[in-house]
Amino acid sequence: MRIIVESNYDEMSKTAARIVADQVKRKPDCVLGLATGSTPLGMYRELIAMYQRNEVDFSRVKTFNLDEYYPLPADHPQSYHYFMYQNLFKHINVPREQIHIPQGIAADVEKACQEYEKAINAVGGIDLQVLGIGENGHIGFNEPAERMHVATHLTDLTEETVRVNSRFFSSLSEVPRQAVTMGMGTILKARRIILLANGPRKAQAIKEAVSGYITSKCPASFLQVHPDVILILDREAASLL
Ligand code: PGA
Repeated sequence: MRIIVESNYDEMSKTAARIVADQVKRKPDCVLGLATGSTPLGMYRELIAMYQRNEVDFSRVKTFNLDEYYPLPADHPQSYHYFMYQNLFKHINVPREQIHIPQGIAADVEKACQEYEKAINAVGGIDLQVLGIGENGHIGFNEPAERMHVATHLTDLTEETVRVNSRFFSSLSEVPRQAVTMGMGTILKARRIILLANGPRKAQAIKEAVSGYITSKCPASFLQVHPDVILILDREAASLL
């Protein structure tokens, strides 16, 4: 596990964007695993700026997002579909048919999860997976639990996650209680992983994630067994290391 500590959020975002852009330059038809949340917003802004300066071309890239609330229609302003189009996809040249996000509504959600997993395998797996981390150590919506799912699945959100994410909704009761998420195996199969974290509220989860122990109480701690993970942190998120 490599750890890069940057002085602030902007520097963290630039470093992450450089790694993503380098991946796309090295392999123009690469498969990117993408994340939502406040953390990667700066990285997406940087990538859009690079695209506008003709420094990176996304026309052959395929993307797979980590997760989506369930049930929530794609056009809901708090859906991760909506987030990704607003904050990245509508500003760059990745073709729509190369974008994949778990369905927030499906007639048969279990089948949709299996198909998502198959679609990732069919393109040869994820080359670079971008992750944030929850205050409780979750990655994607793999919440702390006794047992962790390996593959893409429908999961219940913890009360803590519902509370933390309620800041984007008009009330706590509006926050979906479930989500479809890549599993721990889906994430760990990515050839390279970058995890971004900023701010003091992430410091404890980051400390546990690099502790030398793996525990399902901190799902991010499993990243320690992966051969190519880079943590990109600001000083506050790194403050307990
Ligand atoms: P955040 O969420 O980027 O909004 O802090 C990260 C996460 O919950 O994984």
